[in-house]
Amino acid sequence: MKGIILAGGLGTRLRPLTNVTNKHLLPVYDKPMIYYPLLTLVDAGIKDILLVTGGNNAGDFLRLIGNGSAFGLKHVNYTYQKGEGGIAEALGLAEHFADGEKVVVILGDNIIEGSIRSTVEAFKRQRAGARILIKKVPDPERFGVVVFKKGKIARVEEKPKRPKSSYIVTGIYMYDARVFDIIRTLKPSRRGELEITDVNNDYIRKNQMEYDILKGWWSDCGAFDSLLKASNLVAGKSRKTG
Ligand code: DAU
Repeated sequence: MKGIILAGGLGTRLRPLTNVTNKHLLPVYDKPMIYYPLLTLVDAGIKDILLVTGGNNAGDFLRLIGNGSAFGLKHVNYTYQKGEGGIAEALGLAEHFADGEKVVVILGDNIIEGSIRSTVEAFKRQRAGARILIKKVPDPERFGVVVFKKGKIARVEEKPKRPKSSYIVTGIYMYDARVFDIIRTLKPSRRGELEITDVNNDYIRKNQMEYDILKGWWSDCGAFDSLLKASNLVAGKSRKTG
């Protein structure tokens, strides 16, 4: 299974912090943000990794991560997203890299306490389709919100004003190779982006979506408060584990 980290976008919600650097290079406690999703993939046994980035500081990722030797990797692949066309657009750039294999996708600003190993193993056994990790949060309206019907996921609603559940879709997604065909059919949303939620809803409609509930804490780092929260959570974990 191949791994893809999406670290494009312009990080406009974090200006002026992102005026002269990429959001994913900002510190989260004692490491650059991008280290965490990379470590999450490596911990899950994924060694073939593509980093999609963009903006004016793409070269800094190369200087920081290089060939990934600090993470026990022999090689890291890089590609470049122009502008901010959305998460699904960034993922679309990985088609050549995926080369027909299943992929594990993680957003560059998603940080977790635990491991995704068991979900990756379950997805390896899954014949086809997709698998997402969901999580109960106090502020679901900021995310893709899961709508349940009879215990199954009926659909995902992106940032609804009135969330129909407290479960949100984290930025950790697993897809079969059909994902790239789905991305080709997408139209930009109201915010002008190709939405990953539209990709997930396509799999849900075809009854090809499985899910697991993520254990341990989870945070994105897209806004000042969540960036601070993530730093505090990582600091707490580091104090606990040494
Ligand atoms: O964090 C989980 C949430 O991420 C999900 O619950 C939502 O359904 C999903 O849409 C997304 O929501 P956000 O609006 O918070 O995503 P954001 O635009 O902040 O982008 C998150 C990461 O995705 C960002 O750190 C890098 C990557 N990205 C984003 C865009 C817009 C790209 O690589 N390229 C892009 O064009």
